[in-house]
Amino acid sequence: ETIDGQGKFLFPGLIDVHTHLREPGQEDKEDILSGSRAAVRGGFTTILAMANTQPVIDNRALVEFVRLQGERAGYAHVLPIGTVTKGMQGIELVEMADMKEGGAAAFSDDGKNIQSAEVMRLALEYAKLTGLPIISHCEDKDLAGDGLMRRGVASGRMGLRGIPASAESVIVARDLLLAEETGGKLHLAHISTTESVDLIRRAKARGVDVTAEVNPHHLIFCDEEIKLTDTVLKVNPPLGSREDREALIEGLRDGTLDMIATDHAPHTQAEKARPFAEAPFGIASLETALSAVWQNLVLPGRLSLDRVIEAWSVSPARRFGLLGGTLKPGSPADMVLFDPDFSEVIDPAKLVSKARNTPFLGKTLHGFPVMVWVEGRLVQRNRTVQ
Ligand code: NCD
Ligand code: ZN
Ligand code: ZN
Repeated sequence: ETIDGQGKFLFPGLIDVHTHLREPGQEDKEDILSGSRAAVRGGFTTILAMANTQPVIDNRALVEFVRLQGERAGYAHVLPIGTVTKGMQGIELVEMADMKEGGAAAFSDDGKNIQSAEVMRLALEYAKLTGLPIISHCEDKDLAGDGLMRRGVASGRMGLRGIPASAESVIVARDLLLAEETGGKLHLAHISTTESVDLIRRAKARGVDVTAEVNPHHLIFCDEEIKLTDTVLKVNPPLGSREDREALIEGLRDGTLDMIATDHAPHTQAEKARPFAEAPFGIASLETALSAVWQNLVLPGRLSLDRVIEAWSVSPARRFGLLGGTLKPGSPADMVLFDPDFSEVIDPAKLVSKARNTPFLGKTLHGFPVMVWVEGRLVQRNRTVQ
């Protein structure tokens, strides 16, 4: 078969290092099959599955379960992330070496940050033995309190309890110091504040072994756009100010922020329909993230397509050790054919994710992956998952 690539871009499959697939335990929100189908519909050929499932992924058997469910589904490669601590309780470290043998790609207590500096320090020491990164969720629980959005002008006007920017940056500062002292590998999830970008920039200049990711929603939206009557933009960490958004774009451009990652956080419609204070945090984005970044950042000239591919494929592969694994040279390719002229209304009936909590529902996006190959096998064609 001859493929007409006229006017389209062919690039390596995207690697999303931060997706919540909810299996085991919350399959009404998403499962590994629906999530990995959503991934390939969105242009992702590898996804790292977050550990805050029910039960949490804190032993080798569970790591193997997630990996095998991914293989059985047969869409995107699914790489399990283990928790750092047993039961995600922040106290006792998991068996990292054993979980690595079972297929764990990294360790994270996402959804519940490690509050003890001592535990984070120990985890970073162990990271030197396994070679796998420790992912910090970058949130001080006490400072975040029961806040609902970023503390600032917008939260004041809306009368919603605020989360100060320091709830993120104090943990970023702490974990950078611990990584520097131990020499352990640190990956910072969903960076959202100006102060964090500055701290990471300075730490990198000193040679700290750190990488950091930014989510599409923090590059595109800001706190002024949040409405009390719509919980779709209620997310962790909360959307920051316009100035923060600029600092994140600048950080991504200059390489301070290494990666883009979705933090795909599927929730049921019933949960998201609750009053603002009670709805869960999270945005589902696997099927819209690449188009949203293309339309809001690449088309207006804020970010080059080359940088997007580097940040969403090359640097994740490098950091999470994937170049020698499923993506080793000579193996059948994971590829995406992207059509910048393809427009689509985000129609709930067409989404293959179980989740509907996307701010783009009913909106038209431009620029979509129209063919996706995983290990040389065509898994998505003309926006339909095969
Ligand atoms: C995460 C989820 O839903 O698992 N939600 C989110 O907004 N990022 C958990 C969390 O980080 O609070
Ligand atoms: Zn998180
Ligand atoms: Zn997350």
